[in-house]
This record gives sequence, C-alpha cells and structure tokens, in this order.
Amino acid sequence: MAAAPAAGLFLSFEGIDGAGKSTQARRLADHLRCLGRSVVLTREPGGSPGAEEIRRLLVEGAPGRWSAETELLLFTAARRDHLERTIAPALAEGRVVITDRFADSTRVYQGAVRGDLRALTDRLHAEMIGLEPRLTFILDMEPGPALRRGRARGGTEDRFEEMGQEFQTSLRAGFRALAAGFPDRCRLIDAARPAEAIAAEIAAMAAEVLG
Ligand code: TYD
Repeated sequence: MAAAPAAGLFLSFEGIDGAGKSTQARRLADHLRCLGRSVVLTREPGGSPGAEEIRRLLVEGAPGRWSAETELLLFTAARRDHLERTIAPALAEGRVVITDRFADSTRVYQGAVRGDLRALTDRLHAEMIGLEPRLTFILDMEPGPALRRGRARGGTEDRFEEMGQEFQTSLRAGFRALAAGFPDRCRLIDAARPAEAIAAEIAAMAAEVLG
C-alpha cells in the first residue's frame, strides 16, 4: 500500500504470548489521552470488522490447522484490511495509533519460527503493507510465567499458546534478534517488573517521539 501520509504517530507493542502487551498498550493510550492526544487503540490479528473475522480462523482450533504459508497469507490479509480501514485513516487525521501487535509478530512467528519464510514475509510486507511504526515496544520476559499468565485468561484463543514452551522460547529469541536488528525503531522492555514501572518507562520513550 502506498504508505499513508503519516501525519499521525504510529506505535506498536510486541512480545511473546502473556508478556503484558495489551495491558501496557491500554496504559499508554490512557496516558496519551490524558495529555490531550486523540488515540486509536487497536490490535492484531483484528482491528477492523473484516480482520476480526479472519482472526477467528487464526487463533482458534488445532495448532496444525494451517500450513505456515497459509497462515502468513491470512495474517497479511487481515493486516491489509486493518491498514486500509483503521490505521491509515486515523494517521491521515493526525491521530496516534497504538497497535497490540503488527508486522513484527509475523516476522517472528511465521517468518523466523515456523519455517524459513522470512524472505517471503518481507516481500509480502513490502508489497501489501509498506508501513512501519515509528516506535515498537518489545516486551521481553521468560516464557514460563508469561505462558501461565496467558493460560490463566482462559477462553478459546489458545492456538499459539498450545504450541508449547519451546515454541515460546524460540519466539523470545526471535523478538530479541529483531530488537537488535532494528535499533532505531525497536525498544526492548524488561517485562518482568511491576506494570507501573514498565508503563513509566514506555511513557518516557513515547514522549521523545511525540513532538
Ligand atoms: P494476541 O491476541 O496478541 O495474543 P496474546 O494476547 O496471547 O499475545 O495474538 C494472537 C496470536 O496470534 C498470538 O499467539 C500471536 C499470533 N500472531 C502471529 O502468529 N502472527 C501475527 O502476525 C500476529 C499479528 C499474531
């Protein structure tokens, strides 16, 4: 997609399942609203009606339900709809968009861990999405406690959590490598601390790019 005129500010949260992204994304949104910013808080897979429908195909059901290639196409289709209907319009209006997961999740989950699909992931991203966040907060912690926290939430959206702790350990390494590979954009956050301290660190980092 021709990148939207980026009048607004685009921020993303990433990390393994249960690392606390959703809580921190919400806290940052609340904080920026208190500062008078117009904020859109959104998530992937999902974030638009069509993408939320695709989400159900991805997060429910047996772990082996899709091949890595099919999964990559479904995540990219969901992201394209999310971009067209939610992210690009909000950025064009000059709003702050905070997304709970974006393309880095695909790079790590599908590109790095499930088969050697990173090159294809990058090509699809360039052709279909073509937008990167200004800042990406990568919440980093041990998979054990994170997985327990994710499971404690219950529900049916456990397809990726069911892939096990070894999978989560590879994901953690994938996210850390990504943070090292994109130092201008990515901030590695120690997520094994009280939520309050994490939120304060993230708010300070966001302040630097708020303008
Ligand atoms: P999410 O709702 O963020 O789960 P959680 O709150 O447990 O972190 O995302 C659902 C799952 O989808 C999650 O296990 C990560 C996976 N996922 C991918 O594999 N690729 C992607 O591109 C995205 C956005 C998510």
